[in-house]
Amino acid sequence: MFESLELLAPDAIIGLIAECRNDSRDKKVDLGIGVYRNAAGETPVLDVVKQAEQRLVDSQASKSYIGSAGPADFNTVMRDMTFAGSVTNERVAMLQTPGGSASLSVAAGVVLRAMKGATLWVSNPTWANHIPLLGEAGLEMKVYDYYNAKRHSLDFDPMLETLRAIPRGDMILFHASCHNPTGIDPDEEQWRTIADIVVERELVPVIDMAYQGFATDLDTDAFVIRQLASQVPEMIVCNSCSKNFGLYRDRVGILLIMTVDSRTRDIVQSQADNYVRTVYSMPPDHGAAVVSTILHDDGLHADWIVELEEMRGRLRDMRVLLRDALRTRAPGHDFSHLVRANGMFSFLGVSAEKVESLKRDHAVYMVDSSRINVAGITPTNVDHIADSIAAVL
Ligand SMILES: Cc1ncc(COP(=O)(O)O)c(C=O)c1O
Repeated sequence: MFESLELLAPDAIIGLIAECRNDSRDKKVDLGIGVYRNAAGETPVLDVVKQAEQRLVDSQASKSYIGSAGPADFNTVMRDMTFAGSVTNERVAMLQTPGGSASLSVAAGVVLRAMKGATLWVSNPTWANHIPLLGEAGLEMKVYDYYNAKRHSLDFDPMLETLRAIPRGDMILFHASCHNPTGIDPDEEQWRTIADIVVERELVPVIDMAYQGFATDLDTDAFVIRQLASQVPEMIVCNSCSKNFGLYRDRVGILLIMTVDSRTRDIVQSQADNYVRTVYSMPPDHGAAVVSTILHDDGLHADWIVELEEMRGRLRDMRVLLRDALRTRAPGHDFSHLVRANGMFSFLGVSAEKVESLKRDHAVYMVDSSRINVAGITPTNVDHIADSIAAVL
């Protein structure tokens, strides 16, 4: 049966992580893997998560099934954190999903039940898994202009031009904040202009929010969602708790489908529940129960905000640190975009050969596109990173 299949190369990022792990050089630095790290280079369990888990251990009475849409208490509190009242509740179908990835694939499954051959436009570039995941799900994938690699900035006018040419009724995916892989987000004025085109072209927005709270704060990072909620009849939001709660392996996310009215919401909810039943039946509960415990408790919620601020602040600080370290070592080169970007990622802006040399000659690991995760920078390794980059330039 399986003779017709070919052996595939390992996923590029997973392969890179393994290569770095097996590198015995003391000075090795991993700027590839897409997880948050503290100054000690660890991805710790948040204190509030530990506390919520303890409460669950003490109080949880059953591990019985919950249902395809996941727990209502999680869904409602996540809906409120996402929309903040910008849409009436009866228009929103909600499903807890195994991470943001499953939120995207369930969204695609439900969309394809409604519209065979639906087309989704994504930014060029976009998260490395968007096209494989959503294309494999069956959506027709197209790209719109987004990033100016020379200026390391949003290519705003060309972007608007492609958006204006998208056929009416197509779907368009935006990253709510902390664009992966560039870190470059539209500002609020630019989002308003983009939203007007979405309305004018009758596009259906799909918002991927994998980093709520990692750019500015929970509300500012959801700006585009709340802006669009008041302007469009339908919208899909995929929110992930992997990064902002550090719950990567527990697989927690939510799919929120904003529909035109409550009758349509009921239909979409029934279709989404039914779709999930045919795929993984029900989402894992533990991580969602942790998030719900935190968000429903004033004390834990306040502590979470502090931990989230710490993560966000560290990312900002590391961006400044690397920019400054490069300023003195590579005076002819401009790395100011590092501090204009949000979240964990930025393009360094060097060729694949230089990326290879950084790995081979300096033990500094990043993906081929020269996307770096600034969470891999620490005050201790920044000099080595900057020396290495300057050496290959
Ligand atoms: C833009 C974007 N969307 C979605 C995801 C999916 O996250 P997860 O499935 O781990 O929640 C990621 C993870 O890196 C991401 O960067």
